Amino acid sequence: MTIAHRFGTYEIAFETLSAVGEAVGDRRAFVITDRNVESHWRQSLPKAWPTLSVEPGELSKSPDVYVAALEWLASVGADRRSVIVALGGGVVGDLAGFVAATYMRGIDYIQAPTTLLAQVDSSVGGKVAIDLAAGKNLAGAFYPPIRVSIDLETLGTLPARHIRNGMAEVLKYGFIEDPDLLKVSAQVDEATIRKCLEIKARIVEADEFETTGERAKLNFGHTIGHAIEKVLGYQELLHGEAIAIGMVVETRIAESMGLAKRGLAKEVEAILSRHELPVSHPVLSNAEALIGAMMRDKKAVGSQIAMSLVAEFGQCKLIPSISRGVMEDALRLSA
Ligand SMILES: NC(=O)c1ccc[n+]([C@@H]2O[C@H](COP(=O)([O-])OP(=O)(O)OC[C@H]3O[C@@H](n4cnc5c(N)ncnc54)[C@H](O)[C@@H]3O)[C@@H](O)[C@H]2O)c1
Ligand SMILES: [Zn+2]
Repeated sequence: MTIAHRFGTYEIAFETLSAVGEAVGDRRAFVITDRNVESHWRQSLPKAWPTLSVEPGELSKSPDVYVAALEWLASVGADRRSVIVALGGGVVGDLAGFVAATYMRGIDYIQAPTTLLAQVDSSVGGKVAIDLAAGKNLAGAFYPPIRVSIDLETLGTLPARHIRNGMAEVLKYGFIEDPDLLKVSAQVDEATIRKCLEIKARIVEADEFETTGERAKLNFGHTIGHAIEKVLGYQELLHGEAIAIGMVVETRIAESMGLAKRGLAKEVEAILSRHELPVSHPVLSNAEALIGAMMRDKKAVGSQIAMSLVAEFGQCKLIPSISRGVMEDALRLSA
């Protein structure tokens, strides 16, 4: 699968990690990974490649770790022709991608995603970022990789909760575009990941910099989901779990606005529950905090809260302004 962007194109390849060596060729490669992934998968890449292994988890998307990674590249002699290999989940991909975007004003990098979430979503599209104290992903860039190498074997060591986490994004593609994806089993295969990436590829190619509203479709469940994550302080729920709840609440909003038929939110709930994803949480009774968090989101424009809502499975609509009352009712009904 080939993705086109402003500078050219890159390939998404389903291949073993050992194939990354061929993609790098005679250039020098530098691996950025985390300790969990290192212990399971680092040995699949050439031994000689210098490796920086960060602590697993979101806290590694910090300015401190980012600067430490830049200093490390300088200390091991990475130059403009070097290639960074981001071996890991979305945390490593976002961090290493932003390091690649800024080291010597930008060097090439390869995404080697090892979580389901990274394979169906974060490794493709060129959004890279770190977090600031003021919020998540506040420093970043649109900076596409030169290749995305997906090795399905890596999912074999991924904890079940993280498989479900990625499944929430798979189901999101089902709700917004391809209802066939709503029938997937817990055992994801290459065909499923391909379908998701084809949807993501088409959307990011149509709207690389999130300006036309097309890319906003991918945010179904995310306006509420991000607010939940923020109010809970990024503890307790994983991203996919928060957006699962967000998809239910947002479908209730679509119902109450007359955009979706009555009962669609219940259907969304049933599908998510089949995959053991949460569909409610006590935090939903704190409408004040959630709406406050949505207004401060970087995607909010002025005080308008936009949402990408599903009208029926496979059909999505961007609504630029959702009223406070409608949100409060949907949150109350979902709590
Ligand atoms: N750039 C984008 O477009 C985009 C899109 C969605 C999410 N994201 C970002 O992605 C991040 C979340 O990514 P994630 O869910 O992949 O989390 P993650 O990178 O933290 O990985 C989840 C956990 O699984 C471990 N792990 C990873 N691969 C493994 C494997 N194969 N075997 C065993 N353990 C493994 C990690 O060490 C970690 O503990 C967030 O920071 C989010 O902002 C970015
Ligand atoms: Zn997401």
